[in-house]
Amino acid sequence: MRQAGRYMRVYRDLKEKHTFLEMCKTPELACEVTLQPLDVLGVDAAIIFADILLPLEPMGTGLEFSAGDGPVIPRPVRDRKAVQKLLPVNAEEQLGFVADAIRLVRREINIPLVGFAGAPFTLCSYMVEGGKSREFKTTKLMMYEATDVWELLMDKVCTMLVDYLKMQVAAGAQALQIFDSWVGCLSPSDYEKYVLPYSKRVFDGLKDVGVPVINFSTGTSTMLDLVQKAGGDVLSFDWRIQMDSARTLLGKEQPVQGNLDPVTLFAPIPVIREGVYDILKRAGGRGHIFNLGHGILQHTPVEHVKAVVEMVHEYQHE
Ligand code: CP3
Repeated sequence: MRQAGRYMRVYRDLKEKHTFLEMCKTPELACEVTLQPLDVLGVDAAIIFADILLPLEPMGTGLEFSAGDGPVIPRPVRDRKAVQKLLPVNAEEQLGFVADAIRLVRREINIPLVGFAGAPFTLCSYMVEGGKSREFKTTKLMMYEATDVWELLMDKVCTMLVDYLKMQVAAGAQALQIFDSWVGCLSPSDYEKYVLPYSKRVFDGLKDVGVPVINFSTGTSTMLDLVQKAGGDVLSFDWRIQMDSARTLLGKEQPVQGNLDPVTLFAPIPVIREGVYDILKRAGGRGHIFNLGHGILQHTPVEHVKAVVEMVHEYQHE
């Protein structure tokens, strides 16, 4: 996962000429950005350049990326009326640029291409809060005070997601990753009650899709067993749990992904090596995709990312 190509010079140069949304919606540009890190880093898979928030536009909330503020949703959805007014999405017609970008990238590379979307909770939290949030108070209060409105909102988002993700596979995505970036703000019991059934609906809806599906979340070390129940072929989690503890909890047959702290990439090389080897050793050499526990940070030294890829490739399990 290399979210925010901003740490690469070639990406920043292209962004001088185009806005982020323009790049997402122009398949040739999205293809170019997808390819940018591949040869430089020597990674084993690519992820399509897009954003989890793109489907919000056709749903009717609007979407802006203003420098410094992160994503802004101009018409947040906070009551029954607003949820009822959300529009059904025709993925092919309204998000077809993502499929086109996938088709272009597939022609250019010989490593697997990962498609993706946001998980129901993380998407709905953006729709309710109107942007990034620390406490997720408005979202949680909708769950608690207007449970039926929350459920209607989650329901609409699930329908859109299954459709959108199937479109990506039809276009050539060889794996899917579902990002539940902010779900760690919930108590395990709230996760179980208000989120798990909906995430499960998305993973169930993708059972016959024919490619592996990765269930990604952060801040969920204390509820990984519940996250596992939602589904997905691979469970991806952050650095707040040691790999061997996670594998014991999840069962050794559960494929896992992760979980280097992206801040480690700023450390001196020997410290990075220690972190990388620790994960690989604890993972045990089977059923593990090495990855960061969350997206790469701005200003990360590209040389250090390259070094990590080499460390993983050279590592010999005992
Ligand atoms: O790295 C890649 O090119 C892969 C494509 C990708 C992007 N976003 C491009 C992007 C992926 C997989 C994402 C996922 C995404 N987007 C998530 C889930 C993963 C995670 O990190 O938790 C989330 C929560 C988002 C929402 C989002 N989009 C945020 C929080 C931001 C950063 C806004 C800011 O200004 O800090 C974005 C913008 C974004 N998405 C950028 C990129 C390359 C940066 C845009 C820029 O400023 O150039």
